[in-house]
Amino acid sequence: MKKGAWVKRTLIAVLSTAFVLTAAGCGAPSSGGGSQSADSGEPIILKFSHVTTAESPKGKAAEKFAELAAQKTNNRVKVEVFPSSQLYGDKDEMDALQANNVQMVAPSVTKLVGFVPSFQIVDLPFLFNGREAVLQFWDGDLGKKLMSSLEPQGILGLAMWENGFKNFTNNKHPLKRPEDFNGLKFRTQAGKVLEAQFTALGAGAATIPFGETYTALQQGTVDGQENTFNNIDTQKYAEVQKYLTVSQHGRLDYVVLVNKSFWDGLPEDIRKALEEAMKEATEYERQLAAELDQQSFENLKKAGMEVTELTPEDRAAFQKAFEPVYTEFAEVIGQEYIDGVKALK
Ligand code: LMR
Repeated sequence: MKKGAWVKRTLIAVLSTAFVLTAAGCGAPSSGGGSQSADSGEPIILKFSHVTTAESPKGKAAEKFAELAAQKTNNRVKVEVFPSSQLYGDKDEMDALQANNVQMVAPSVTKLVGFVPSFQIVDLPFLFNGREAVLQFWDGDLGKKLMSSLEPQGILGLAMWENGFKNFTNNKHPLKRPEDFNGLKFRTQAGKVLEAQFTALGAGAATIPFGETYTALQQGTVDGQENTFNNIDTQKYAEVQKYLTVSQHGRLDYVVLVNKSFWDGLPEDIRKALEEAMKEATEYERQLAAELDQQSFENLKKAGMEVTELTPEDRAAFQKAFEPVYTEFAEVIGQEYIDGVKALK
């Protein structure tokens, strides 16, 4: 991260910590919700902002967490969920979390690159060898270490929620071989690894917030994008993208993050109840994500997308083309993480 950005983020984290602690001490509501006044009889408000639709696995699990939180705390906590970038989008949700304007967000892992570059592990093409390896990584020591690397910035990682493997779409022609990408331009979520992935294929890339991607595809600002079946489906990209390549080349999952000062300032029994609610919501989310992934694939076919499957030879050609991405980013991401994932089968 640039030094200026780091200083800004650290300052926000320190100021918000001071602010929340003061607010908690006075029993007054903290900025934008996150009231800690358990004595007043008013519920503690926890605002949960995210960018996908209410029907996506993330959207449904956020609602499930809200329901469980109310149940397990006897309504002492009220979780207010804001889907579809209604409150904050990709550009500002992390700042809002650090400032305690919202208490919980669940960004795609890639979008944390500005905080800790190792989060781009999920973007290395064809690194994860299936869903089981992804779950093992996040539930194991390396995933936990990665999540806890956000703590110095005032952010606590509570859980990993799944979405699925990404696939390429575009509106020009079928994409079956690396050379088919030549000269096209793709939308990326964030970070240099995804940019390098497209450069390796002779294509251009532009980072565009999720909430603006449909319009960018519709207007031809970019020719294509990469996403999970469910995001392609729930964002209705089939309306503006004709071709879908089942590439399954990278992961798109979420880390559920909470403002650390808010969390630490909660009464212990409430925090415990919310931990339980998060655990159950996570089990629900992961199962749902796996189900909806397949259902959305069917929906995309029904919506008329032309589907291209890759043979093992096509896949090998892509893997070869992506070798420079591994060379360029091994150090930035950390060889320990890369080797750790490779060891999972
Ligand atoms: C994207 O920007 O494509 C995704 O990260 C959106 C999301 O939250 O699933």
